[in-house]
Amino acid sequence: MRKPVIAGNWKMHVRAQEATELVRQLRAACETDAVEVVVCPPSTSLATAHEALRGSSIGLGAQNVHWEPQGAFTGEISAPMLVEAGCRYVIIGHSERRQHFGETDATVRKRLGAALTHHLTPIVCIGETLAEREANQTWAVLERQLGAVFTDCAGWDCGGLILAYEPVWAIGTGRNATPEQAQDAHQFIRQWVAKRCGAAAAHVIRLLYGGSVSAGNAAGLLQQPDVDGALVGGASLKADAFTAIVRAAADTTAVKT
Ligand code: PGA
Repeated sequence: MRKPVIAGNWKMHVRAQEATELVRQLRAACETDAVEVVVCPPSTSLATAHEALRGSSIGLGAQNVHWEPQGAFTGEISAPMLVEAGCRYVIIGHSERRQHFGETDATVRKRLGAALTHHLTPIVCIGETLAEREANQTWAVLERQLGAVFTDCAGWDCGGLILAYEPVWAIGTGRNATPEQAQDAHQFIRQWVAKRCGAAAAHVIRLLYGGSVSAGNAAGLLQQPDVDGALVGGASLKADAFTAIVRAAADTTAVKT
């Protein structure tokens, strides 16, 4: 049984002072052994969040990582720096980075390499745009993105790798994928991983759904057999909504064992 992961992507929200308070509320409400809970603040709030999380089971993640450990890369942040800041996870290839900051399949793979080298658990985002879905290209897009992610993957421990299926049309729009659409995509991804890396790898890899996950729709999505958790944007900024999603994930562990 795969342990569910609920990761909050705070994006460019939550300044340091607010991070202390949000973490305090989350610690009071959603520490649980049943779910791997992660928060991913913006870089300037990482240190404060790390301090506020001291002794907590809630993990800390960053929203991006550069592939070089150091160098002349203005505006970037490296894996050793994230480790030093207390991060254990990092989001890679989010569609907002692909759309607005020139992220490509190739740079996603390079960032992933750095995360793995420095023992950060990567949360790699993939997913199709609305135009691609409407043109029946969803599977082709996922295949292309997965092919890039799994380049030179010999020897990988897929148990330490998290993929987030985030259909771009569902992110921040309030229009989530239906549980059936999410399950279809996740099943496709798991079968692809099985073909590429073997059944054991496909069995342990965790596949999160992301895109307008809310307290109201989380249970239906998380109950799907191949949905192992959620990457949550907007709803991760409110402790009560995020806590409800964590509880929904904890409840599914009983159903899925
Ligand atoms: P959303 O964002 O939950 O606000 O749609 C999800 C994400 O971008 O990871």
